[in-house]
Amino acid sequence: MWSCQHVLFICTVLNCVSGAASLIHVFGYEGKEVKISCPYIKGYESYEKYLCKNGCGYSDVLITTLQRNTSKYLIYDDTKKTIITVTICDLRSRDAGKYWFGVSRSGKDLYTEVKLEVKKDRCCDTVSKIQSIEEGLVSISCPYDSEYVNNLKYICRGNRPSTCLQQAVITSDTKQNGQFRLTDDRKSSIFTVTISSLTLRDSGSYLCGVQRKVGLDVFSAVELEVKGEKS
Ligand SMILES: *[C@@H]1O[C@H](CO)[C@@H](O)[C@H](O)[C@H]1NC(C)=O
Repeated sequence: MWSCQHVLFICTVLNCVSGAASLIHVFGYEGKEVKISCPYIKGYESYEKYLCKNGCGYSDVLITTLQRNTSKYLIYDDTKKTIITVTICDLRSRDAGKYWFGVSRSGKDLYTEVKLEVKKDRCCDTVSKIQSIEEGLVSISCPYDSEYVNNLKYICRGNRPSTCLQQAVITSDTKQNGQFRLTDDRKSSIFTVTISSLTLRDSGSYLCGVQRKVGLDVFSAVELEVKGEKS
């Protein structure tokens, strides 16, 4: 619909979970944006809505539907669907915490609590190292939790979770892409990516990813070293 102007290329809509309508839990990556949507009850279409932090006193209001969008906060009130959406741009770890969506009205305002978690956009603390030789073949094993057996699996180069799916070299939907092949052993909850016709340029970091419907995708990291035949 619209996006943070300075992050045009990375406007991924991150996952948002609306719980029992009273708590919305959202996740975002540092440096990226997060979109927080909150449904409200019909009848409040013309009321002012806002996002606030901390105690939600006058100075805690971050943006309201009566203000212009800023470079940090964008607000959009979809009065047809009765959903208010705020995008927070260029996430920092200090943006993590508790927020409230409010609807201004006489008497007590209506509030919905939002919990925002901000994760570092790199992965992971543990990295498995594997080696192979030029022109050879290597299999990268990516174990996953059995609850994700039906989820999309993928692998990308580098170590940035936020763009991994977009830049995946292979996914469980494609299964074969040039030198990459993905097989999924659903019984043992391990998917394997085989890279054939290895060249020295295939050396480097890879992330195994599993897509989640709720929350951020889960990743494990692999470092591949392809050795030249002569070395
Ligand atoms: C913020 O920007 C979007 C589009 O860029 C617009 O639809 C929306 O009405 C704006 N909100 C305010 C309060 O200016």
